[in-house]
Amino acid sequence: MTVVMPSPRAPTLALVLTLLLVAFAPLARATGMTAAADPRAVAAGNEMLARGGSATDAAIAAMFVLGLVEPQSAGVGGGGFLMHYDAETRKVSAYDGREWAPAGARPDMFLDAEGKPLPLREAVQSGHSVGTPLLVAMLAMAHEDHGRLPWRDLLQPAIKLADDGFVISERLAFWIAFAAERGGLSQPAARAYLLDAEGKPLPKGTILRNPAYAETLRKIARQGPRALTRGDVARAIVEAAQAGPRGGALALADLRSAKPRRVQPLCGEFRDHTVCSMPPPSSGGVAVLSILGLFERLRPAPEGAASVDDWAAFLWASRLAYSDRDHYVADDAFVPVPTKELIAPAYLDARVRAADLATAAPAAVEPGDPAAILGGESLRQRWGGDPAVRTTGTTHLSVVDADGNAVSLTATVESVFGSQRFAAGFFLNNQLTDFSLSPSRNGLPVANAVAPGKRPRSSMAPALVFEPDGDFYAAVGSPGGSAIIGYVARTIIAMIDWRLEPQAAVDMAHITAARTPARAEMERLPKGVAEGLAARGWELQPTTFEASGLHVVKVGPQALQGGADPRREGVAVAAPPPAPRRGR
Ligand code: DON
Repeated sequence: MTVVMPSPRAPTLALVLTLLLVAFAPLARATGMTAAADPRAVAAGNEMLARGGSATDAAIAAMFVLGLVEPQSAGVGGGGFLMHYDAETRKVSAYDGREWAPAGARPDMFLDAEGKPLPLREAVQSGHSVGTPLLVAMLAMAHEDHGRLPWRDLLQPAIKLADDGFVISERLAFWIAFAAERGGLSQPAARAYLLDAEGKPLPKGTILRNPAYAETLRKIARQGPRALTRGDVARAIVEAAQAGPRGGALALADLRSAKPRRVQPLCGEFRDHTVCSMPPPSSGGVAVLSILGLFERLRPAPEGAASVDDWAAFLWASRLAYSDRDHYVADDAFVPVPTKELIAPAYLDARVRAADLATAAPAAVEPGDPAAILGGESLRQRWGGDPAVRTTGTTHLSVVDADGNAVSLTATVESVFGSQRFAAGFFLNNQLTDFSLSPSRNGLPVANAVAPGKRPRSSMAPALVFEPDGDFYAAVGSPGGSAIIGYVARTIIAMIDWRLEPQAAVDMAHITAARTPARAEMERLPKGVAEGLAARGWELQPTTFEASGLHVVKVGPQALQGGADPRREGVAVAAPPPAPRRGR
């Protein structure tokens, strides 16, 4: 389940220079870099790199810390996707740790007595939203393939922080208050963890200990992912998912039958680079590649971040790609998804003809029909579409180690604190509300409807980007619900076409154009762009709250370069050179 990147044919000048540099500067050792949503997670990742750990080791250590210090976003109770690049074999692999719906899940479980979808908040906080947590099992699978340090060592930084206590950050305090004010954190265990004795949200700066999480991590350190499918922790998960109100169907048998998978990465071309990301059940990979493919066709000679034409092309590409994504993408183990067709050059050539850069796209763009161009079965009339957009509860981290191996990992509990059900020191996901709440739309079935054992459609797009000669270029990804697709595509365009360094690419404005009006970060947009787009008829809704959390590591001319999203609290930091490895 891998894609192999080509090897450069002949030594390039850059390679010769690098070899000379290595020969004449034996003391200048290569280092790695970790970029993630919290400095404490980055420190844990870099600690593993300094000990000679691989990018995978660092990503795992950082992830267990994020599960503690950023519990609103991701953790042991959730899922994720991981992309890996092996610098020695030049192989790209993809790991799917998406949650499964339990055997007892029903297509109508998010409908009320009259058959109408439940209000989203009710659906999110119901036990029906909880899918089988598979993040830890996926990390263990990646560690089996690419780990260098012992598994148990990777959990130690998080165990220590959970035992000693960590400082609640501004962002975590914000989300605790937000959830508490909106009738969330209603379950006693969640209240006891994040509210004080008077029921007030814990403020920024509070030192919070989580001995239950430390205990769970000790079990995971000893037993691996089995600790979550058998014994006390598994029982606590099931109990919290089945508890009222609206208890769910998740059972021990579901925890035991669900498994992460090694899957074939989805790769495509952008200009002369290659971009690899996740296949279904994520719509992330296909939709990012679709935006990039359409943008490339609309702007054969892009001008830069201040060009109204470039932005108009990005907005059109987004509108068209999201329309296809909403209509077609779901778990392809359950429904036919025309993944390859949607990014086939012949289809993109035809699809792009719908765009006219002189005007704004219509509010509703019909999905395309790849079968009309490529042949095969048309699925256009088969589905009712699912335009779901969701809130904030995800994190992304990127790591490159001293040997050039790379990891791009997006992990999620879906909404803020997931289902807000707390068990054994962590929050359980509400990933199953990523299914369409209603099994049909406009009288037609929805591809992304609930079914037992099915995985809900995701938008997560952890990506690895490669140079024209196949060398590694960058790891990139973001949280942000369905807006992830635009965030990631725009960041790749900013680095490759607009020639921005990773930090500037991450800082650049987002315009999320899936629907009308397009949400735009006005203050971050280069001068004149908003006016230029408005003059062409684009309706822009100013926003100062975008949920991106882009974390990028890119190969620079001299050293690795990082980008950390200023919209969150993360950093990108180079690791100290690794300790020499024995036996080499
Ligand atoms: O899998 C997905 O696409 C969503 N569960 C991700 C949610 C998300 O990114 C919220 N983020 N800030």
